[in-house]
Amino acid sequence: MIRIPVKTEKPYEVLVAEGLLQEAAARITALPQKPGKVFLVSDQRVYPLYGPRLEEGLQAAGFELRFCRFAPPAGEASKSLAAYQQLLSAMVQAQLSREDLVIALGGGVTGDLAGFAAATYLRGLPWVQIPTTLLAMIDASVGGKTALNLPEGKNLLGAFHQPAQVLCDPALLATLPAEEIKNGMGELIKTAFLDEGLWKRLEAWEGALPGAELIARAIQVKAALVAQDETDRGPRRLLNLGHSIGHAIEAASAYQIPHGQAVAMGLGSITRAAVRQGLCEGSALARLEAMLARHHLNQDNPFKVADLLPYMKRDKKAGSGRLTLVVPRRIGGCELREVSWAELPDWIG
Ligand code: GLY
Repeated sequence: MIRIPVKTEKPYEVLVAEGLLQEAAARITALPQKPGKVFLVSDQRVYPLYGPRLEEGLQAAGFELRFCRFAPPAGEASKSLAAYQQLLSAMVQAQLSREDLVIALGGGVTGDLAGFAAATYLRGLPWVQIPTTLLAMIDASVGGKTALNLPEGKNLLGAFHQPAQVLCDPALLATLPAEEIKNGMGELIKTAFLDEGLWKRLEAWEGALPGAELIARAIQVKAALVAQDETDRGPRRLLNLGHSIGHAIEAASAYQIPHGQAVAMGLGSITRAAVRQGLCEGSALARLEAMLARHHLNQDNPFKVADLLPYMKRDKKAGSGRLTLVVPRRIGGCELREVSWAELPDWIG
């Protein structure tokens, strides 16, 4: 078992081990604040795969389980106000109190929806994340960001609400569609670009499905940044590497290009721009291109600069007339740089 402390104001641990789902009930029972009831949120794809196994363990451990059968369809559309309202009604019906616990079993969408409900229902309930996608294991489940989409844009409503614990079981990745693995690899490569040690590991790794060691190492990189800057106003923003362009690519494709794959394109694009401006080593770009190609990630931005600019300007991180970009200088060396909207075209490679 690998334990990664996340040193936020309310500290917690991410536990990583093959087969951890079997032990979930024991881990939850051992939490400092032992919950009364457990309320499970999962989506319609994930629940049949892992929900019953988790429920059996929890029931054997003596929890009164309120399973939220509201389990929404898998996909971004479930991060809506309508789904949130249905989930809140189910929580009221289950008579959940602040002594109880919400579990999010699933990918980033389930984590965002269940986490936002846990952050807001009765002004905050504890929650545990059991991520089932690579993207959620290495990124979404660590750091307490929760969000819903509004009709006007993605993730416009949200809260920071750190979980009481995160249980990462890489064995759950076995059922993940290949496209989803690619999606997670996009984020994993981005995280590795921020940390030379992780990058070298990834270069030396020859597997197809990341195991506990690699996943834990990526979580450590993220946890260190979250510990320095829980509310995303300082160095945590380095995790947005590739994201300003990536988010614009996602939006311009009407969300047909999934997040992690769009981040890979954004990473390729900004690295090319940084090399062009003499800011980034050419060898870093060559290594990035080789890495993305190895994981079958397309690194070419399919849109024209003019198609992306309106989305970049609308980014919730854009402020007024300026945007903070993460500029790659070398593998393991990126920096935050404020650029004006007028300068943005120079940063799309
Ligand atoms: N996904 C980036 C962050 O959690 O800050």
